[in-house]
Amino acid sequence: MPSLPAERIYPFGRPIPAGRLPRIAVVPGDGIGVEVVAQALRALEPLGVAATLTQFPWSADHYLATRETLPAGALADLRDNYDAILFGALGDPRLSEQVVARDVLLGLRFGLDLYINLRPIGLLDERLCPIKGKRESDIDFVVLRENTEGPYVQMGGSFKRGTPDEVAISEDLNTRKGVERIIRAAFSLAQLPHPDGRKPRVCMVDKSNALPHAHGLWQRTFKEVAREYPAIAASHLFVDVAAMEFVRAPERFDVVVTSNLFGDILTDLGAALGGGLGQAASGNIHPGGCSLFEPVHGSAPDIAGRGVANPHAAFLTLSLLLDHIGQTAAARRLRAAVTACVREGQTTRDLGGALSTSACGDAVLRAIERLPTEASA
Ligand code: NAI
Ligand code: MG
Repeated sequence: MPSLPAERIYPFGRPIPAGRLPRIAVVPGDGIGVEVVAQALRALEPLGVAATLTQFPWSADHYLATRETLPAGALADLRDNYDAILFGALGDPRLSEQVVARDVLLGLRFGLDLYINLRPIGLLDERLCPIKGKRESDIDFVVLRENTEGPYVQMGGSFKRGTPDEVAISEDLNTRKGVERIIRAAFSLAQLPHPDGRKPRVCMVDKSNALPHAHGLWQRTFKEVAREYPAIAASHLFVDVAAMEFVRAPERFDVVVTSNLFGDILTDLGAALGGGLGQAASGNIHPGGCSLFEPVHGSAPDIAGRGVANPHAAFLTLSLLLDHIGQTAAARRLRAAVTACVREGQTTRDLGGALSTSACGDAVLRAIERLPTEASA
């Protein structure tokens, strides 16, 4: 079986002191977030992972009933008392402005300084790839997206709004510290030699030809940091070429590092290479700190409540969380179980199967039981 990108040695983990259980905060959120997180949590027992789980109600329902989004003290509580957060999705058509998503999700990303958005791009079964002739091993890389800067900091404003003279400005914030730490994270993730013995590769993606100030900083920083890692092949692509190369030659990538906006866009393209959003997982990580793990997909109001959402992204998200808290063997076993289900066609209908969300969860649980544990393998 080809290894998924996350089989690389994971350098950002949160060590759990001996003698205490990992403490996981669970935020199911809205829509299918609730349905898929419920399935993912079922995997803990058959995986043999004991943890303390605490559910938090933050969602549109909770907001409409209480007007509460992220309550005062929540950031400090999560930072001090939890090892990781398992998150579903936030977004609800009843709210015209997505206040809950903004306060909770962006609040946690910025408030917990989760500066690494780690998004593995993988293909579990050749049949799911929209590109002709690509095998599982061709689509096997990780995108590290800067997660605390760029236009997402909401600096800017508008002037003469609603008139023909309207002016609108969104600032793209890039700091030396922010750029350097995500680039360093990419090199630390890439350090493992490739199984075929070649140098691991880090590719930095920017648009420094059009944005010489902001992305000139990325260029200079990347070159400086790359010099410290002679055993890693460092390269650069402009984002437009990178989009083309994701489709034309995805096998040329191991670790891609890029800005917040470009990472957002490129990783949806990456998800499509692996068969779609139903299987795309992500981590919002502060190395060694309480970090947040969520499927890439949103709350999918168009299918919410109908029991048809694909829970695989949530299972794979849990596997990233398990890597973070040092449960590497369980993480691997869970990924293998999802892979086995996909290859056997035991999937929801977005991947061509006929299973409901919960029947798909049952299939993953059965696959976990069937797989040997690492000790007995
Ligand atoms: P979405 O990811 O929720 O859905 C896009 C399309 O993919 C829909 O047709 C949906 O049915 C399908 N889909 C998504 N996940 C699926 C799954 N697990 N199984 C089967 N089909 C799946 O994105 P959309 O529709 O743009 O956004 C819906 C809401 O979610 C919005 O309020 C948006 O703001 C929010 N959102 C939240 C995110 C988060 O919490 N991190 C991320 C993306 C969107
Ligand atoms: Mg996105």
